[in-house]
Amino acid sequence: MSENNPKNVLVTGASSGIGKACAIYLAKKGYSVIATSRSLPKLSSVEKVVQDHGLDIKTAELDINSENSIEDTIPYLVSEHGVIDVLINNAGYGLWGPADSISIAEMESQMKTNFFAPFRLMKAVLPDMLNNHSGTIINISSILGRIGTPFNGAYVASKFAMEGLSESMRIELWPLGIRVVLLEPGYIKTDFHKNQVTASKAYSTNLRYGKIQYNGETQNRAYFMLSQNPIKVAKKVHSIVRSNNPKFRYTINKEAMIGALCARFIPERIFQSILSRTTM
Ligand SMILES: NC(=O)c1ccc[n+]([C@@H]2O[C@H](COP(=O)([O-])OP(=O)(O)OC[C@H]3O[C@@H](n4cnc5c(N)ncnc54)[C@H](OP(=O)(O)O)[C@@H]3O)[C@@H](O)[C@H]2O)c1
Repeated sequence: MSENNPKNVLVTGASSGIGKACAIYLAKKGYSVIATSRSLPKLSSVEKVVQDHGLDIKTAELDINSENSIEDTIPYLVSEHGVIDVLINNAGYGLWGPADSISIAEMESQMKTNFFAPFRLMKAVLPDMLNNHSGTIINISSILGRIGTPFNGAYVASKFAMEGLSESMRIELWPLGIRVVLLEPGYIKTDFHKNQVTASKAYSTNLRYGKIQYNGETQNRAYFMLSQNPIKVAKKVHSIVRSNNPKFRYTINKEAMIGALCARFIPERIFQSILSRTTM
């Protein structure tokens, strides 16, 4: 790896799905990877790959929702392994349910993990990146960071927030040598659906959505048939990390690309009518 190329990569939520695929793929490509999880035992399958293939992946426990955990862990990792050149803000989950059924606590928890935690991590790695005038931050958003679909309001809000923050940071950090990039996957075959949280009052009998909500849920499940292997995301991440001049947004999968194009070029009223007919 040349001197200009980034070396140390930190991936959050690396115990499964996209995070795990990115950690292993980048290590296979010669990067020095720190794979983090809320719980070290969950990284045992990553450690097995490390042993079997002799990869340069260190595992670390990091609770992205804890300010103390980030404040203690990031400086420790830097002192042990050197400055973090690439941050992949990947950890996240979906909260499902009609917006009026979601409690404030459930919404806060969604924003805490999907928005405040990535922000906190960016703040933790930025001082070193700024000193070095280089670094790449890849925020794993979603096509739902651009398009609001029914019954996904909390998740959509968290990803829209991540997109807005990233857009501002991209522009302010570019002249200082730091690249902020958004990745917007469509359906990817991971444990995302299994780990999705349903709002505790989503099925309350006093809600009026009835068949629409049922359709929304079954359609959502059906669309997961389109899911692609997370390696697709890992390959894109690799190409971003290698680039000195990455774009700001990358959509992954056909349905995400079509969605993004429609959101941009079709009049809003028509697009929302298409969305309501295809999602519920
Ligand atoms: N799968 C898709 O179709 C898809 C599409 C678009 C975007 N995405 C985004 O891709 C990212 C990775 O998701 P995935 O598909 O790989 O799902 P996944 O298999 O469920 O993995 C999610 C990872 O995030 C961490 N995580 C989950 N809930 C958390 C919580 N409450 N607090 C802290 N960490 C939590 C977990 O890490 P630990 O438990 O190890 O800490 C887990 O390894 C997410 O940001 C998701 O929004 C996924």
